[in-house]
Amino acid sequence: MLQGPAPPGSPSSDQGTSPSLACQLHAELLCCRTPSDYIAAILELSSLVVRRQHRLLLHWDFLYHLTPDGRRFRCACDTVHRFTADVVQRRHQALDRLGREAWLKSKQGKTVDFIDILLLAKDEDDQDLSEEDIAAEADTFMFEGHDTTASGLSWVLYNLACHPEYQKRCREEIKDLMQDKESEEIEWEDLSQMPFSTMCIKESLRLHPPVTAVSRRCTEDIKLPDGRVLPKGNICLISIYGTHHNPAVWPEPQVYNPHRFDPENSKNQPPLAFMPFSAGPRNCIGQNFAMAEMKVVLALTLLRFAVRLDESRPVRRKPELILRSENGLWLHLEPLGPCCESRPPAPLS
Ligand code: HEM
Repeated sequence: MLQGPAPPGSPSSDQGTSPSLACQLHAELLCCRTPSDYIAAILELSSLVVRRQHRLLLHWDFLYHLTPDGRRFRCACDTVHRFTADVVQRRHQALDRLGREAWLKSKQGKTVDFIDILLLAKDEDDQDLSEEDIAAEADTFMFEGHDTTASGLSWVLYNLACHPEYQKRCREEIKDLMQDKESEEIEWEDLSQMPFSTMCIKESLRLHPPVTAVSRRCTEDIKLPDGRVLPKGNICLISIYGTHHNPAVWPEPQVYNPHRFDPENSKNQPPLAFMPFSAGPRNCIGQNFAMAEMKVVLALTLLRFAVRLDESRPVRRKPELILRSENGLWLHLEPLGPCCESRPPAPLS
């Protein structure tokens, strides 16, 4: 089953004594047959938030926290916060034990990860960030960066399984790219040499945007083209899914057609027609990383496997905070044989 919060290529960079947050989560994902408490809590939060949005009375905190959903929400929040706080605290203790200089020295030649950077960061008054601040940043990155990429990757594999002709073309492109390499490692420069695969990923993000909507508070009155005004202070829900499926913006919106993102065809696209990563000052700060991650995982998967639909398990979209499918996305991965056996396997990162 592919739909889930585990992007196969997310970074696990720490080589010190305490594993990085992503690394720890990955270890859990790889070892556990059942979802960990952390993952279960993230999934629960994602569904509870959307359920609450649809019930007007429950927008009131006081009422919400008295309901069974409200209690489950608190419990799931606690689980997520405890998990991150534990990792940050253990890392902090290790830093205190070694001291700043020795800690920095121990990291030389190794990758300094996100939590290390935050632990060593100072605020504008030259003070260390509190453990709560660090945990809050780590939570944002885990929530924004993990499930979203997993959803994006799952849907692109699904769309390519539905369209073997595009899948074949992607594989050919990647094979050409890897032709003279000794190992199957994708390097940074390779990422710009995969134009068709990139078009396929973008079209999948259009048809199945992992984040379906964002909300913004108007900081001033906004006049719409028809003369109506959105008053300052109002909160607006902006539907990414709706924009991506609007036939006035995208003709035949339900059709998966990567050629929409052919540079020639996308020249006249309005700038906000495609916004899987949102837009404006609070857009996604991880979008380049996410695109790189998806390209690497897609390339290495298609090199090794043919991806086919499992016809016996129909897919129905399920928009929660992240676009999922109701019963998972089930695909068959058929090993492609000699081309992948002749070379040493490469890490998926
Ligand atoms: C396909 C993958 C991804 C998609 C579709 C996506 C989409 C988005 C969207 C739509 C927002 C705006 C949310 C809002 O305004 O309410 C956002 C924000 C954010 N994303 Fe992503 N994201 C992805 C991957 C990532 C990754 C990999 C990271 C981190 C490594 C990341 C970190 C963030 C952060 C920190 C924010 C908050 C930015 C802010 O509020 O200033 N995202 N993302």
